[in-house]
Amino acid sequence: MNNQNHIIPCNVVKNYNYFRVVVVMVPLPAQGHLNQLLHLSQLLSTFDIPIHFVGTATHNRQAQLRRVHNGQTNHPIEFHDFDIPPFPCPPPNPAATHKFPSHLIPSFTAAAVHLHRPLLAFLQALSSKVKRLVVIHDSLMSSAIQGVDSLPNTETYSFHTVSAFAIALHSLERKGFVYGRNDGEMTTIYEEYFPKELNVVSMEECFPTEFLELIRTQFRQLPKMGAGKIYNTCKVIEGQFLDVIKRVEPEFRHWALGPFNPVKISSSMQSCSSHSCMAWLDQQEPRSVIYVSFGTTTAMKDQQIKEIAIGLARSDQKFIWVLRDADNGDVFNTSEIRKSKLPEGYDHLIGDRGLVIRDWAPQVEILSHWATGGFMTHCGWNSCMESMTTGVPVAAWPMHSDQPRNTVLMTMVLRVGVVLEEWRQELVTAHAVEEVVRKLMVSEEGAEVRRNAERLGNIVRQSVEDDGESRREFEAFVAHISR
Ligand code: UDX
Repeated sequence: MNNQNHIIPCNVVKNYNYFRVVVVMVPLPAQGHLNQLLHLSQLLSTFDIPIHFVGTATHNRQAQLRRVHNGQTNHPIEFHDFDIPPFPCPPPNPAATHKFPSHLIPSFTAAAVHLHRPLLAFLQALSSKVKRLVVIHDSLMSSAIQGVDSLPNTETYSFHTVSAFAIALHSLERKGFVYGRNDGEMTTIYEEYFPKELNVVSMEECFPTEFLELIRTQFRQLPKMGAGKIYNTCKVIEGQFLDVIKRVEPEFRHWALGPFNPVKISSSMQSCSSHSCMAWLDQQEPRSVIYVSFGTTTAMKDQQIKEIAIGLARSDQKFIWVLRDADNGDVFNTSEIRKSKLPEGYDHLIGDRGLVIRDWAPQVEILSHWATGGFMTHCGWNSCMESMTTGVPVAAWPMHSDQPRNTVLMTMVLRVGVVLEEWRQELVTAHAVEEVVRKLMVSEEGAEVRRNAERLGNIVRQSVEDDGESRREFEAFVAHISR
């Protein structure tokens, strides 16, 4: 589609009047965000709701390529590619002082600003052909949906991609809560819900200034008349922090619709996976393998990679290690991808005890496999939800953003993991890696967090069964938007 085609004539949009509701998804173009709205699209489509997924051609292609199917028969999701002017896609900088993926900010800004015009034209055309148009947008994409509130038959929901724990703290802070100051209503709420011993990191430490500014700009532009807020979590995991959000922001309706990721990988889906690591996992003992992966926004220095390699080798445990650099703004531009070197003779040293994966790993399938017994993770929210729904305990090594706060939730509140290192650590040593792997996989403390994780996994999976708590909340949302 070229720029002249941005205004979509009414007659190219199908007439959807037959359906009570049509949903349009507006994701932020980063894997951890695209992924969640695509999962939500799949879940909603099982209710026979038409879904439109909008973005640039590159990011729509990325989302589809890495899509984890939920195994249900879906109403097909329609992807709409919009042209935007070229934007810079620098490679990640592993030597940067802040570990936040600042190299992605130009792609976020470009999408939020330049998708606005074609998106509005598309929604204008669609809103006149439907009974109700529901727009679900990433909370960091508010610029793109300005003016949508005034369209007929249309309501907007903002989607917040992180834990209720992190959102609750952020909401308290925005309403004036300050750590260490003992007055005001927000302090009373904080003290009621957050255990005293929690060591919560400030927002200013977790994000670079330029990204904090982007968050503030996008939050200022959240539609005042927004119909509600959506979260990828559920009461059985984070009930008390959802209560905090409801108390701090009573002006909105809040929907905890998670988990979005598939909670059961059926045997037919497993056999679909062609990745060689699945056949390797089939050969291992139950709960004997630690899966090591740091999502799509982590770039590590060569020295750090070497320390991990040695630590894993010395731990004497089986492992799958996904050794990939952070995504850049265009994941199909592979010319500048760094291939990190492992210590000489590493393959020989680990033999059949470990696998190093350099391509896209089937993470949800790996975590669902009976041979996987632990997960070393940066605590990105997708990874947290995937480990909790599969009942796999974590060794937490947060890098930036919401991850330090997710680590507190996972290790101190829910007790489904152990901490590898203080997140500000410049270099995590091989010794620390070795110790935490042993602690998680073969110590009494590890056995206890594994029991907790398995218990929580069972509770979450039950909650999405017919008449389970999460299933009821999801059905209530579907009934609400289809009213
Ligand atoms: C980002 C932020 O860092 C995170 O804190 C925020 O909550 C969401 O967006 P990211 O760093 O990529 O995400 O981590 P994570 O949230 O864990 O998302 C990564 C996703 O990619 C997971 O769903 C994971 O299953 C998937 N993945 C990653 C694979 O399936 N295979 C891979 O090889 C790598």
